Amino acid sequence: MRSIILAIESSCDDTSAAVIIDGVIKSNIAASQEVHAEYGGVVPELASRQHQQNIIPVVESAIHRAGIKKSDIQAVAVTRGPGLLGSLIVGLSFAKAFASARHIPLIEVNHMQAHVLAHFAEAPQPTFPFLCLTVSGGHTQIVRVESPLNMTIIGQSIDDAAGEAYDKTGKILGLPYPSGPIIDEYSHKGKPKYNFPEPKIDGLDFSFSGLKTSILYFLRDELKKNKDFISENINDICCSVQHRIISILMNKLEKAALETGIKEIAIAGGVSANSELRKQLKEYAQLHGWNHYIPSFQYCTDNAGMIAIAAHFKYIKGIFSDQSITPAPRMAFAPHVNPHQ
Ligand code: KG4
Ligand code: ZN
Repeated sequence: MRSIILAIESSCDDTSAAVIIDGVIKSNIAASQEVHAEYGGVVPELASRQHQQNIIPVVESAIHRAGIKKSDIQAVAVTRGPGLLGSLIVGLSFAKAFASARHIPLIEVNHMQAHVLAHFAEAPQPTFPFLCLTVSGGHTQIVRVESPLNMTIIGQSIDDAAGEAYDKTGKILGLPYPSGPIIDEYSHKGKPKYNFPEPKIDGLDFSFSGLKTSILYFLRDELKKNKDFISENINDICCSVQHRIISILMNKLEKAALETGIKEIAIAGGVSANSELRKQLKEYAQLHGWNHYIPSFQYCTDNAGMIAIAAHFKYIKGIFSDQSITPAPRMAFAPHVNPHQ
């Protein structure tokens, strides 16, 4: 059966639309929001307003780029959560109106599950079961994936997410938001000279809030001795912070792989664009004999292509949503997972 699905993503600060035909992404358009840079984080009120402005042109452009007509679309998919309420409302309202007007099914997608399923946008694709370290601005999770519609979180951050650790460090250092890519870039020119402690957290869970505090105290002490400490040592500070964030991630991922015996290992989410994480994953893979999977950059950060892939798997199983659904800012993993699928 031929399937043509329009997918919408608006959970945070990127407005994105994609068209997928028979499981193949034909267009994936995103408008990112520059307006938050000076605030050190996403300002929810500004984000939803920008989504309102961007959503129609972004959807038009995705439809045009895919070379289809609106009337060809057979279902509309949308991120229901997790994310910012005001941002989710824009995408969900648009999707509901589109589905209702055209009498086509609505498909809700969990944003974090979609990050995992981004691996099915391109080759090579992991085989089941696989582990995915999903690292974004709001979440850090190790996910055991049995099938596209059946996955479980086996470890997660008990406080800040890895991306948040990058962004909060950037704010302390006076860098614009999002700071992850900037810290990554500066790290290349520095050395991991400063030793920030690795938190001792049981099991497969993570913690990043202690790191932020130790960076804060470290800088406070150094700035007392030299008020230009940050500007004079920015590369080494960034490299040291990056070194610690990535070692926290990789140590837990390695533990998860050893405990589960799974050797198909993937990374996903905005922080999977990080050069050090990508490099270390390759090294660990060689050491342990893992098959490793790294998404291309366009599928790391928020994009509707991954929502389209997740929707495709639901569409072929006939899993649709009701018009009465509302945004779920703290959405848990798929509410209607069938463990046998
Ligand atoms: O998945 P994503 O686009 O949005 C959320 O769902 O949160 O992730 C955004 C996060 C931000 O915290 C950003 O700083 C981080 O991904 N990020 C990076 C890099 N590129 C984006 N962090 C470290 N290194 C990068 N190269
Ligand atoms: Zn995301």
